[in-house]
Amino acid sequence: MKVGPSLIHRLFYPQVPLVMAAQYRGRVSAMPVVSYASVSDSPPMVVVACNPEGFTCKLAQKAGSFSLSLLDRGLIDAFARLATVSGAAVKDKLADAGLAHVAGQKLKVPAIRDAAATLECRLVAKKRTGDHLLLVSKVEAAYSGGAFTDFWDYSAYKPLLYAGWRDGMTTYPGT
Ligand SMILES: Cc1cc2nc3c(=O)[nH]c(=O)nc-3n(C[C@H](O)[C@H](O)[C@H](O)COP(=O)(O)O)c2cc1C
Repeated sequence: MKVGPSLIHRLFYPQVPLVMAAQYRGRVSAMPVVSYASVSDSPPMVVVACNPEGFTCKLAQKAGSFSLSLLDRGLIDAFARLATVSGAAVKDKLADAGLAHVAGQKLKVPAIRDAAATLECRLVAKKRTGDHLLLVSKVEAAYSGGAFTDFWDYSAYKPLLYAGWRDGMTTYPGT
């Protein structure tokens, strides 16, 4: 079967989504992202492709920084809420989704309190790629809860495996 252009990204599923969050002048916004990659170890750099019309993408550019969080799959309802409400509609989108946050350790970013791991990212470059904007960032701080040492302990961390949006988030249960 021929795979149409708008379906190509679905070939990559299941993928572990991150939550990208930013704050600027009293506004806090966040959204799930799967279009991300680790692109350098030294210095540590991560890129995210975001819709340039999205509120969270715009806020992250204004702030010049953002956090990326890994959340346990038990927080699937919060993921879904972050994907359906625009940051333009609420002052604090993380709080609206029931995700408490604290100040970043190094950067002025919202860090999700119950995240399994958090990256604090400083925006260093932008590149328009088709209908998305590539945000190139340097990771200024990275820390995890108890489930990650040098590898994930999957008895303590259950990643969400995103399998696409069909009237809501679908997930791959694994084997
Ligand atoms: C699991 C998942 C992954 C997503 N990944 C991306 C992504 O990588 N880039 C993007 O621009 N939007 C992505 N989206 C869509 C945004 O999260 C969604 O449009 C969000 O509501 C935008 O929020 P905003 O209006 O506050 O910017 C994803 C949605 C879901 C459910």
